[in-house]
Amino acid sequence: MTIDIGQVRAGFPALQRQVGGRTAAYLDGPGGTQVHESVIAAMNGFMERGGANVHGPFVTSAETEAVVEGARAAVADLFGSDPDEVVFGQNMTSLTYAMSRALARTWGRDANIVVTRLEHDANVATWLQAAASVGVEVRFADFDPADGCSLDLTSLAAALDENTALVAFTHASNATGTITPVKRIVDMAHAAGALTYVDAVHHAPHGIIDVGESGTDFLACSAYKWFGPHVGVVYGRRELLASVTPFKLRPSPDTSPDRWETGTQSFESLAGVTAAVDYIASHGTGATRRDQLVDAFATIGEYETTISDRFLAGLAEMPSVTLYGKPETRERTPTFAIDLDGVEPGFVAERLGEQGIFVWSGNYYAYEVMQRLGKPDGLVRIGFIHYNTLEEVDRTLAAIEALT
Ligand SMILES: Cc1ncc(COP(=O)(O)O)c(C=O)c1O
Repeated sequence: MTIDIGQVRAGFPALQRQVGGRTAAYLDGPGGTQVHESVIAAMNGFMERGGANVHGPFVTSAETEAVVEGARAAVADLFGSDPDEVVFGQNMTSLTYAMSRALARTWGRDANIVVTRLEHDANVATWLQAAASVGVEVRFADFDPADGCSLDLTSLAAALDENTALVAFTHASNATGTITPVKRIVDMAHAAGALTYVDAVHHAPHGIIDVGESGTDFLACSAYKWFGPHVGVVYGRRELLASVTPFKLRPSPDTSPDRWETGTQSFESLAGVTAAVDYIASHGTGATRRDQLVDAFATIGEYETTISDRFLAGLAEMPSVTLYGKPETRERTPTFAIDLDGVEPGFVAERLGEQGIFVWSGNYYAYEVMQRLGKPDGLVRIGFIHYNTLEEVDRTLAAIEALT
């Protein structure tokens, strides 16, 4: 299958918005993707039917339970896990706070944990605060700016020892687009006896996730980065979800995964989650939805490589633009952190925004990344996704060039 870009765009109503007389480019993939029309219909459908809370002895409650089960099954297909290993919550940050606080209670006095400098702060500050609450040391693994901002595995190995309780690391950087070798890092952590917590928020719309293959203990992401609504999801290995004690209310269910879901869930969002997974799967073929998702991400990856190739070739023609990240399409998402000589990142983002090209400036919460790069004021970040066209890539390049 190949991407039919006309058909893809037709399904994203917001992409058709006019800004200053031209169709907006919406290059805001890493900041949140546009929501597919099938997702909007599913969410509306739930609200229109008037769903009740779960566990009631009446039909609307049973319908809501079916929606929750459907969403768990859909995300299980997305992750390559079982449905009872899928936990929903407000967003990745809130879920990671919940997980980190609960896991911290399992750490012994001599324990240490490891985070990396390639992270969004949701996978750093959460762990720093959890560690501080129980007096545990936090170590940082570095990345290598001279090697396309790839994670430095030597530095990671040096941080690990027999007391390491957990390694928290990103699947892909939301700043530089760098993809990390997830299975290798999980193997290194497990060899040291540590658990792993993968932040897959940025990677999820770009490539297949396979928790079975990587063997990670936890993995977190957010549906609004993959064409769905604002809801977070965590995969947790079944035994861990059952054995670690969450912070929870006394009367709420104590069975997994429900015990991790505090309060009433956003059920309309869960209806949208299933539709979003189905939307991604619609780009692939196969006997099961998981097979379709695997195939779909191969197609999406191929198209996004074309986008990256075009963008990188254009950037290479601009000597006053510096790219922070891999200068080739390998091991990266189509997200680019750039700096224009003598031009403030905020100024660039504003000028592009006026032309209907939506990009970010600053640190986008990749706080450690910017500190490490010596760019405390941040960089311009341009993030493409499979609904962007090559014409939009060219328009973006021309708009950047005009500012150099
Ligand atoms: C890599 C990464 N991790 C975590 C987050 C936080 O996700 P959420 O907004 O769901 O808390 C983001 C959000 O931009 C992100 O890009």
